[in-house]
Amino acid sequence: MRKQEGYCLGIESTADDFGVGIVSFEGEILANVNDAYRSDKGGIHPREAARHHARVAERVIMEALCRSGLKPEELSVIAFSQGPGLGPCLRTGATAARALASYLGIPLIGVNHCVAHIEIGKLISGARDPVTLYVSGGNTIVAAFEAGRYRIFGETLDIAVGNCIDVFAREAGLGLGEKQPLGRVVEEKAAKGEKFIPLPYTVKGMDLSFSGILTATVSLLKSGKYQIEDICFSFQETIFSMLTEVTERALAHTEKKEVLLTGGVGSNNRLKEMLKVMAEEHDATFYSVPKEYALDNGAMIAWVGVLSYKYGLTIPINKSFVKLKWRLDEVEIPWVENHAD
Ligand code: ATP
Ligand code: FE2
Repeated sequence: MRKQEGYCLGIESTADDFGVGIVSFEGEILANVNDAYRSDKGGIHPREAARHHARVAERVIMEALCRSGLKPEELSVIAFSQGPGLGPCLRTGATAARALASYLGIPLIGVNHCVAHIEIGKLISGARDPVTLYVSGGNTIVAAFEAGRYRIFGETLDIAVGNCIDVFAREAGLGLGEKQPLGRVVEEKAAKGEKFIPLPYTVKGMDLSFSGILTATVSLLKSGKYQIEDICFSFQETIFSMLTEVTERALAHTEKKEVLLTGGVGSNNRLKEMLKVMAEEHDATFYSVPKEYALDNGAMIAWVGVLSYKYGLTIPINKSFVKLKWRLDEVEIPWVENHAD
């Protein structure tokens, strides 16, 4: 591989965030600007979010360029989140990326959103070859690198853990009018809980299910028999134990020596604590990722753009269609060494 100099601008738009990052070929992050669509009703409305993205795109791109101190002509490559995600949101980001690439006459790269979470987590934390737990509003994945790809060791069979937490919190009327994420509101209540109420614990093989526990927790709530703090405590202990169990089994199976936690739910202190204790029991190091890079962001797309560009993984504009269900384990990762080899 030749050593090259240059900069990649990356656009993230899989769901409710429109993010633009600029990263140098050496991995220096020059800009990371984000504009989030927030609906009053909760949840995401794909078309409304896409309309938001189209409205803010130009401003966010200009702001990222301005912060980076670069002129548009200094960019070498444009990357965008090609999937998985919501169709209208993905298409809006892709349209902006194609327009930029063709206007500047530079190559285009389609990036897998889940790969991007792992790679930026590694870049920021310094982890080299971790078992990654990526937990957010739309994803629940335990993955690790093996034989050229990030293999999925466990994932949710139904809803994502962040979605489970948010639906429960809304049912409980928590966080009304608050600016904090609902998961953070549940975390604060849980910290005051003392009594553990048993809830369904659903790990099937290496996969997880959160819909049963959601229904059971909502019915506990409606029974009126328990304190909200105890319900939040029991709910968190159960879902985080499930996540820790699957991550632990992936760690034991792969014999890796690092655990990386990322995604919005990854800012939860109780989850961090459980994973850290588990990692230490296996002589592994635990790494977490600061929020700016654990949540959806443009820098992660730009960084995978850099890695991909160095291996010639550009795509022609007429083949740059978005992939709504693009799985992490479909993507070949030539830039990671095979540690097992
Ligand atoms: P993705 O497209 O990656 O699925 P997303 O926008 O749905 O992204 P994130 O922004 O990464 O998700 O994360 C949002 C989720 O994180 C929400 O479900 C939110 O409640 C949860 N969350 C945020 N802070 C905490 C916390 N302290 N504890 C638990 N959950 C949290
Ligand atoms: Fe994400």
